[in-house]
Amino acid sequence: MKYKNRIGILFSVILTLFAASCSLYPQIHESQAQLTPEQLAISTAPAIPLSTNTLRGAAENGPRKNLAIGTAVDIDAFNTDAKYRSLLGQQFNMLVPENVMKMYVTHPNIDTFDYSQGDQLVAFAKAHNMQVGGGALLWTSEVPTWIIQGGYTKSELLGILRDYITNVVGHYKGQVQSWEVVNEPLDTNEHNQPSIWDQVIGPEYIDDAFRWAHKADPQAKLYINDFGVEGSDTKAEQYYDLVQGLVTRGVPIDGVGFEEHLDIALPYSQNQATADMERLAQLGLQVQTTEVDIKIQNSTASLQDNLNQQAQLYASVVHACQAVTACNAVVIWGFTDRYSWIPAFTGHPDQPLIYDDEYRPKPAYNAVKNALLHGA
Ligand code: G3I
Repeated sequence: MKYKNRIGILFSVILTLFAASCSLYPQIHESQAQLTPEQLAISTAPAIPLSTNTLRGAAENGPRKNLAIGTAVDIDAFNTDAKYRSLLGQQFNMLVPENVMKMYVTHPNIDTFDYSQGDQLVAFAKAHNMQVGGGALLWTSEVPTWIIQGGYTKSELLGILRDYITNVVGHYKGQVQSWEVVNEPLDTNEHNQPSIWDQVIGPEYIDDAFRWAHKADPQAKLYINDFGVEGSDTKAEQYYDLVQGLVTRGVPIDGVGFEEHLDIALPYSQNQATADMERLAQLGLQVQTTEVDIKIQNSTASLQDNLNQQAQLYASVVHACQAVTACNAVVIWGFTDRYSWIPAFTGHPDQPLIYDDEYRPKPAYNAVKNALLHGA
């Protein structure tokens, strides 16, 4: 009897202590500003189990359970806006740093690597059971000034790239599940010229970049990515030919990204997008929809009609991916109109995403959730 009493007392003490620690939760929640990135990540962990009433719950209970629903993450919003962080961890099971894993951030000069902001997002993703899509490692645009102005020879630039990719992919080994190794290789840079990589090294920079990334983290899935390649035009053909060449040469590429920056005023064929993805999947590759947002600024219809048409188009994008077994993710390029890149880039107001600028779900949010949960 005495022994049992002690056990009972011990159990009630443990229970009391546990209840006390739980009651701290709101206090930690309220004073997030003083938390370390790791504490911050854990402090905004979803308080309720995921249900089909979230995008990630709909995806994980839908017809394509392995299809991730992701979003690009704006680091300034992440660091300053608790509602942004809360929805990020609650609604998505994949995150992609919008900018902080680009070269101009991670390798700002020849003797500096800066992982601080990427580490914050990786910690948050880990705490919220989210996968991380890293990158873009190499891009035609946004090449750091020290490289543009460095006057490097081909062999010097190859050495810089090998060192850069080895360090960055090595730093995130086991923490970043997929990398966008080369972004928009078919495009000219912000000065309407071929990239410095093409100019100084030649197209083989792509093969080398994938090989260095694979050596640095053999488990990470490696993607190439471009926009405007979900149609039946020359660029889609060039993209296929480029990727087929990589596969033929035994380059360690795992997948292909289709950005899908769309506009309700422009044509989009769900069937053509599915066909383009399927054609590349036949090369033994995975595919992803990587940067969806849908402009409405160029339509003269009423706002409500524009938002309804936008919702239908978001659903079509999800269905285009669902129709391809090898399509494993739909990533929206941000999730609230409050932080979209498009108004600044176009110089016009727009509402391209799935939550409005006050975090109210738009028709597009419901369309994406229904498409994920019920399929086409
Ligand atoms: O962080 C600096 C800030 O300190 C400074 O005060 C401010 C004004 O100069 O600039 C801030 O950096 C900006 C950065 O976004 C973060 O907001 C850069 O100037 C700006 O160029 C950068 O734009 C990004 C753009 O890529 C270029 O990197 C957009 O947010 C991002 O949405 C966009 O994303 C690209 C994908 O990576 C590739 N596919 C196309 C897509 C849209 O262009």
